[in-house]
Amino acid sequence: MALPDWHSAWRAALYGPTGFFARGSRPADHFRTSPLVGPELAEAVVELLHRVDMALDRPNPLDFVDVGAGGGELAAQVFARSGRFGGRLRVRAVELTEPVVPAGVEWSSELPDQVTGLVIAHEWLDSLPCRVVQLHGQMVREVHVGADGTESLGDPVFSPWLDEWWPLSGEGQRAEIGSGRDAAWADLVSRVVAGAALAVDYGHFAGSRPFLGSLTGYRSGRQVPPVPDGTCDITAHVAFDSLAAVCPGELLTQREALAALGILGDQPAAGLAAADPLGWLAASARAGRVAELRDPAGLGGFHWLLCPRSAPISLVRA
Ligand SMILES: C[S@@+](CC[C@H](N)C(=O)[O-])C[C@H]1O[C@@H](n2cnc3c(N)ncnc32)[C@H](O)[C@@H]1O
Repeated sequence: MALPDWHSAWRAALYGPTGFFARGSRPADHFRTSPLVGPELAEAVVELLHRVDMALDRPNPLDFVDVGAGGGELAAQVFARSGRFGGRLRVRAVELTEPVVPAGVEWSSELPDQVTGLVIAHEWLDSLPCRVVQLHGQMVREVHVGADGTESLGDPVFSPWLDEWWPLSGEGQRAEIGSGRDAAWADLVSRVVAGAALAVDYGHFAGSRPFLGSLTGYRSGRQVPPVPDGTCDITAHVAFDSLAAVCPGELLTQREALAALGILGDQPAAGLAAADPLGWLAASARAGRVAELRDPAGLGGFHWLLCPRSAPISLVRA
C-alpha cells in the first residue's frame, strides 16, 4: 500500500481522532516554551496590549486572543493582569481541547470571527503540517512516510512557493512547503478588524535554510525523530520571510522584542543581598528567567512578527 504524503501523515498524527494534540497532549509535558518559563513573556505581551489599547482609544471590550493556547499558561498570565485595562479586557484561549484556565478566560476550539485588540500565535504556526519535498535526480519530489517513519519518494512537485522562497538545488536537499502556513497567517490577520496580530515562533530565512529541512519531533521533554504515529509532537521551523510578505509589519528577534517592551532582566544590585535577601533572591530568579527568554541560542532566537491593522502599533516605538 502506498504511504501517505508527509502533510497527510503529520495532520493525522497531531490532529486526527487519536492525534497527539487532538487527544489533549499539553506542550508543557513535552517541550519548553516561553510561557512556561515564568510571567515575563506575559508582562511583555501586556505592554504590547497596552500599546494596542492606546492606539485603538481604549475599546470595550479589548480582545486578547491566544491561538493554539496549549495549556493556557499565557492566556491565564495575561488575564491575571487584566486590572491594567479597567475591566475591559476579554481574554480568549483558542485550543482544540479545553485547557485548565481561570474562570474569566474564555475557551473556544474555533478562531474568532473578529478581533478588536491583539491576537497572538505563539508557537502555533510551527505545529501546522506542511508538505515535505526532496530533490532527487534534479526533480523535486513529494516525500511519503509510514507510521513507523519509513519514507519513500513520490510524484514530482511543482510549487510556486518553493520557487520563490526555498528553491532546491542540491541532490538530497529537502524543504517544508510553507504556503499553507502563510495562508493560515493571512486568515488570522484578516480577522483583526482593529489592533494587531503577533506571530512568535522559531524560523529561518532564505540563505540560511537548513539543507535537510527542520522537521523534528518532541516527546516528554526530548527531541526525537519525527515519526507520525501520534506519540510525539511534530514540528518544523517557520519560513519567516515568506510569512512577513503576507502583511507589512515589524520582524524582530525575541531578544530584541523583549528589550523593546521593557523586559531587560538586569541582575540585582550587589547591595540588595544584604539589605533585602528575599528581594535579592526574587530579583536574581527573575534575571535568570529573562536570560533564558533572551538567550540568542534558545528562546531569544525566536522571531516576533507584528502586523498592525488599522492603527500604527509598534514593538519598537512605545
Ligand atoms: C506547539 S503548541 C504551542 C502551545 C502554546 N502556544 C505554547 O507556546 O506553549 C501548538 C498548539 O496549537 C494547537 N492548535 C493547532 N492547530 C489549532 C487550531 N486550528 N485550533 C486551535 N488550536 C490549534 C495545538 O493543539 C497545540 O496545543
